Amino acid sequence: MSDLIEGYLGKRDDGTKSRMPAVLDRWQSITGLILGLFIIGHMFFTSSILLGKEAMYTETKLFEGSLFLDEPEPLLVGIAASIIFIIFIIHAGLAMRKFPYKYREYKMLKTHSAHLGHLDTTLWMVQAATGFAMFFLGSAHLWMMVAEPEKIGPYASADRIYTDNFGFLYALLIAMVVLHAMVGLYRLTMKWGFTVRKDPRAGRRRNKRLMWGAIVFFSLLAYSALGTYWEIGKAHQPDYGKRYIPQSQISAGGEQ
Ligand code: HEM
Repeated sequence: MSDLIEGYLGKRDDGTKSRMPAVLDRWQSITGLILGLFIIGHMFFTSSILLGKEAMYTETKLFEGSLFLDEPEPLLVGIAASIIFIIFIIHAGLAMRKFPYKYREYKMLKTHSAHLGHLDTTLWMVQAATGFAMFFLGSAHLWMMVAEPEKIGPYASADRIYTDNFGFLYALLIAMVVLHAMVGLYRLTMKWGFTVRKDPRAGRRRNKRLMWGAIVFFSLLAYSALGTYWEIGKAHQPDYGKRYIPQSQISAGGEQ
């Protein structure tokens, strides 16, 4: 009965407002924080290719459990990717509540933002636009990681980027994810007040500088890594599909 009253009148039967919007907002922030921190780690991991093929190979095997398993197991990466994908979907679902759906709502938001001339409001619009693009770009990448986790490695990743044309998708995804994650983390510090309590104005200025610095740094890192995978993939095209053989196995004659 109380559900019915709230459903029709927007208030609970005791006259108070539901706490559900606040609960959903908190979960949007928590899932966003997990994804934002994950992306920072992820950008460093994929950039291991800048240190060479052997470094990227060793790191891939570490994620497959080489430290504690006799044989590395790509399924571990597939499971991690599935968990990240579920968090990604929950986060997107929660964020959708705030999208302007109708033309009128969009127009009001745009006019309001232009009238205010307030960078943080503009940044919210950047969040909405990059988040929308990631529904498609992020899902394509994540599904690949869930479905074929064994196809990660210096040559496998480079083949995907160059010969399978994923490089174009990643070039767009890098811009979207770096902006979305760094603006999102900045907005979280402002929304929940971490690091800005003592002097909010100075805190906002400092956090905004950190945000721009992080955007430049992670863009440079990710595009340099993408360029490196691209070059490796181009050189490796005649041998498309052949996997990288680590130095330690060359003498033993094994193949990975
Ligand atoms: C556990 C989940 C994930 C795994 C295992 C994973 C793995 C990888 C790997 C191995 C690459 C190198 C290219 C390739 O092999 O195709 C890559 C690139 C990339 N991934 Fe992910 N990824 C995951 C989640 C995500 C998420 C959630 C996003 C953002 C929505 C993302 C964005 C990107 C971008 C932008 C690149 C290109 C980066 C670059 O070239 O430096 N990834 N990822």
